Amino acid sequence: MDFYTHIGLPESWERRILELGKIYEPIQEDLVKVEAKLRSISEAAFPWLPKRLAYSLKRSGQLAKLLGYSLNSGGKRIRPALVLLSGKFYNYNLDYLLPMAAAVEVTHAATLVHDDAIDNSPIRWGKATIYRVWGEDKAVLLGDYLFAKAGELVATTQNLQVIKLLAQTLQIISTGELSQSFDAFNLKQTRQRYLQRISNKTASLFSLATESGAILSQAPEKSVKALKEYSHNIGIAFQIVDDVLDFIGTEEEIGKPVGSDLAQGTLTLPAMLLLERYPEDNPVKKLFQNQDKQKNIKLAIELVCNSPIVQECYQVASDYCAKARRNLDLLPDNASRQALAGLADYVIARKR
Ligand code: IPE
Ligand code: IPE
Ligand code: MG
Ligand code: MG
Repeated sequence: MDFYTHIGLPESWERRILELGKIYEPIQEDLVKVEAKLRSISEAAFPWLPKRLAYSLKRSGQLAKLLGYSLNSGGKRIRPALVLLSGKFYNYNLDYLLPMAAAVEVTHAATLVHDDAIDNSPIRWGKATIYRVWGEDKAVLLGDYLFAKAGELVATTQNLQVIKLLAQTLQIISTGELSQSFDAFNLKQTRQRYLQRISNKTASLFSLATESGAILSQAPEKSVKALKEYSHNIGIAFQIVDDVLDFIGTEEEIGKPVGSDLAQGTLTLPAMLLLERYPEDNPVKKLFQNQDKQKNIKLAIELVCNSPIVQECYQVASDYCAKARRNLDLLPDNASRQALAGLADYVIARKR
């Protein structure tokens, strides 16, 4: 069965899905500047320090190596794109938007470096994770460095509101990852709890991206709110799709191991629906009760893949994206609004 049929999208949909490159068109040149900024961050320079001290910190090249590995690795750059696109409705000023866009991507990279260590994940972007190559200690410290770098970048906007928002978002992401860790291997979780968790760990950073882009371009209050809501909704959809791809994707496509959520005891929407469907004899139940790990992961994946659960999950995600599209209605109609609408579709149809 072809991928789009499997996830329940009508055939006509495939033509509607734009490539990311096309979606990014209104901000293409400025995304190149974000890339340049990320590359300069990977050089691990300390220009505010006296030359001799800066040189001694930089000399070994160890930090630069880790930074380059995590920042220039083929991520999709959705979050910086959201900052720039959201800035396109009012006063588009790169002096503020560029450091903000870089800051959200650096924050994202930091959460991934930590997340891979937390999840014991060996692979991301189709290559070994920082955690796997250099160990947990380096992953923790690199993540810390990146969080601090994000703070420094946002400070250059001199906008207290977005500085505070970044700090608050980091607190929210941490609570999301913490609740996931506390809930590991817990079979009794409500859907509400799941949605709250993915809102915290994932959608909050999406929201920061568009809210800050709007604030830094002096958007009126209503537009700030609409863009924040839009991102919240695509963020939830994004994580639901990520959680389904953990069942139906291939390692080659997603660049991450398949079945890793179950292996970590993370109960995601597909696993919840599988528990509802087979309350008694259920591989997720057995796995969470510590029986035959590999066998039950494989069984759970097979059951999910061959059931309507996949389409049910995509339906939930699509409903969030439909809401996200409606959030855009009150914004001025321009190429960026079209791009944001396209991104809502992309989030559903993406294979990586
Ligand atoms: C991965 O995000 C982490 C989740 C929130 C699921 P992305 O899929 O956006 O990461 P990139 O594109 O590899 O940077
Ligand atoms: C997203 O959750 C992680 C963060 C928000 C930090 P996942 O654990 O599902 O992300 P992947 O699958 O490792 O990219
Ligand atoms: Mg993970
Ligand atoms: Mg995942």
